[in-house]
Amino acid sequence: MEIAVIGSGYVGLVAATCLAELGHEVLCVDNKLERVEALNEGKTLIHEEYLAELLARTRGSRLSFTTDSNYAIRKSTAIVIAVGTPQSSNGHADLSYVEAVAVEIARAATGYRLVIEKSTVPVCTNASIRKLMLENGCHEGSFDVVSNPEFLREGTAIRDFLYPDRIVVGAATHRAKRLMREIYSSLLDGSYASQPGAVPPPDDFNKPFYLETSPQSAELIKHASNSFLAMKISFINLVATIAEATGADIEEVRLGIGSDSRIGHRFLRAGIGYGGSCFPKDVAAFEAVAATCGAEWELLDAIRRINERQLARFLEKARDRIEEWECRNLSVLGLAFKGGTDDIRESPAIQVVQALLDEGYSVTAFDPAAMAHAAQVLQGNISYAADAYLAAENADALLILTEWDEFANLDLSRLKQVMNQPVILDGRNLFSPETMSSADFAYYSVGRAAVAIAAEEGPKQAEQPENG
Ligand code: NAD
Ligand code: UGA
Repeated sequence: MEIAVIGSGYVGLVAATCLAELGHEVLCVDNKLERVEALNEGKTLIHEEYLAELLARTRGSRLSFTTDSNYAIRKSTAIVIAVGTPQSSNGHADLSYVEAVAVEIARAATGYRLVIEKSTVPVCTNASIRKLMLENGCHEGSFDVVSNPEFLREGTAIRDFLYPDRIVVGAATHRAKRLMREIYSSLLDGSYASQPGAVPPPDDFNKPFYLETSPQSAELIKHASNSFLAMKISFINLVATIAEATGADIEEVRLGIGSDSRIGHRFLRAGIGYGGSCFPKDVAAFEAVAATCGAEWELLDAIRRINERQLARFLEKARDRIEEWECRNLSVLGLAFKGGTDDIRESPAIQVVQALLDEGYSVTAFDPAAMAHAAQVLQGNISYAADAYLAAENADALLILTEWDEFANLDLSRLKQVMNQPVILDGRNLFSPETMSSADFAYYSVGRAAVAIAAEEGPKQAEQPENG
């Protein structure tokens, strides 16, 4: 099918590339000329596994990039809206980008068009897009608007798109439903996975659950899913605070809770709070929707407040330990909002680092992908290192702020050799206290007892509990 994807950001670029990988003819549009030029020059723009190889085989053949939305809309049967829906000052989602695209489509379309709304939007946006299109030159029957929320995670975006748990399609007409099934057919029948050169499926791969719903249900599924995941994280962070105050170990507690198949292990990692371009704004937008509908919004407010407090609590702990160990030079591992991505939007790591820089500390940071972006926003006495060991050189303490896999595999004796003091503050619980104790590190993590060492005397002892 000929498909236009409007927006070449995280979701637009991944969706356009994957749709081309599935065999469709895709025109990906962005109104930022420099983005389109960079994509046409062969750049990938985001750090995402498999993106470079998929772009290499589709760019210039089934996939092209343009700023000309009119051309793309005229040429395509289906048009995917994948522009941003940032948070407005009142918490509601700012729909102005989505609305602008809807108007563009209405004005440029010649004949039937399937509009696929993929940006995350509040329930009932589908109806307002329809209305806007009718007001701007389209007539009933000449278009459908389908709500097709995207559930990909950054860091695993390509695999999530090609091997999703579910595909949700909120459509009102048979024609729209038929076209949507056609677009996703090779994922639904599993034929993509067995294609030579296909991106390898995950170990637990099953064909996706295909769910056709009303547009309102599809929109609500997306907001509710993100809010539920954020709730799991805030819940475990709340439990971590209790664990830390009472001498329990949050990693043991997490295993115990998650082993109940009704709860599950995923999204139960305690840390410094969730960040990213979606959870913070989507929880706020859902809270705004709930308030509008006269529903109880306090639960959503609590998710947000616990998240903010989690970061503040970690920062407080870091300050106490930094003072105790008389640190001046800090090393930071991790700047992205999560591992596997170069995205620093709403990154808790960035907030922690900026707070420490504002307090006058000198920081040497390393992140496998996000340093270039971080350098554009962080201000103060900060330098960037080429790897974790260089970042740790002469550090009085090392802070782990992003859950990159490679940080969990660091050579601890090498790290200890290069550091000025063996002090680690781990905001992501990447190590066990036992490992750190054996490696002679003073180790402070989240929801667990601290591992203390007597700096000069040698023998180490565990404090029980840290706050007790
Ligand atoms: P983004 O900010 O990275 O990208 C949006 C892109 O749209 C930008 O490049 C912008 O220049 C472009 N754009 C804006 N108006 C345009 C117009 N009129 N014509 C052409 N291009 C235009 O945003 P994103 O992270 O890709 O998110 C897009 C939407 O998808 C949001 O609603 C988000 O909540 C949702 N979403 C994001 C993710 C994610 O992991 N980032 C996952 C699922 C859903
Ligand atoms: C999230 C959802 O997981 C996707 O399904 C959704 O499509 C996307 O938002 C979106 O709508 O944009 P993403 O933000 O890419 O994806 O990343 P997550 O893996 O969800 O992590 C979000 C934040 O939560 C990160 O800061 C991460 O470090 C934190 N997190 C995650 C935890 O603190 N603990 C966990 O157990 C899991």
